[in-house]
Amino acid sequence: MLLKRGAEAELRRTEFLGRPAVEKHRAPKRYRLEALDEDLRRSRLRTEARLMAEARAAGVAVPILYDIDAVENKIVMEFVEGPTGKEALDRGGPSARRIARAIGRVAGRLHRAGIVHGDLTPSNMIVRSGRIVMIDFSLGGRDDGAEARGVDLHLLREALVSAHAHADDYYREVVRGYREVMGKAADAVVRKVREIEERGRYT
Ligand SMILES: Nc1ncnc2c1ncn2[C@@H]1O[C@H](COP(=O)(O)OP(=O)(O)O)[C@@H](O)[C@H]1O
Ligand SMILES: [Mg+2]
Repeated sequence: MLLKRGAEAELRRTEFLGRPAVEKHRAPKRYRLEALDEDLRRSRLRTEARLMAEARAAGVAVPILYDIDAVENKIVMEFVEGPTGKEALDRGGPSARRIARAIGRVAGRLHRAGIVHGDLTPSNMIVRSGRIVMIDFSLGGRDDGAEARGVDLHLLREALVSAHAHADDYYREVVRGYREVMGKAADAVVRKVREIEERGRYT
């Protein structure tokens, strides 16, 4: 069963040794030069698999990686049952605030471990039994600078603003959760987010 056909990847429900699983496959892009396209797809796949393992080691819940196939350009991972972070926030109420705070803590754990996600939006999170499971690391990387961290949080804020009436409340909770984990180091990042927004306003 096809779950989603995105710009870059196709996701299917499947089974792995009898367990519910998801296969994420990157199909070739015809408009890209073939050799270049191969490299790009392979490197995104490797990044995704490596960062999933690093995030797990940093205490962030991620799907279990069952298989990686660099020839077919696909990974097979655990199917995570639950709404996306976006769907959970859409429902509103006090549990949405708790989720926003949990999202902030997840961002903090990633950043504290030197990982930036690269596409840190609530659509790339699944809420399983009240806990955030982080997915879609293909645009991520290693960076512990305030700029890269600020870009991550800024993207999250933008996603909240564009989709949720209570975006300001949610972002406040995100920052609270982020500070819980990052402590003093959070200040420079939160400042950076403001700076990025100012830049956007005047250019
Ligand atoms: N392990 C998983 N378990 C359940 N659903 C998943 C899983 N991985 C992805 N999905 C669903 O598929 C969507 C797209 O997956 P994602 O990895 O974000 O691909 P894309 O790069 O196309 O954004 C997610 O938003 C989520 O709804
Ligand atoms: Mg995604």
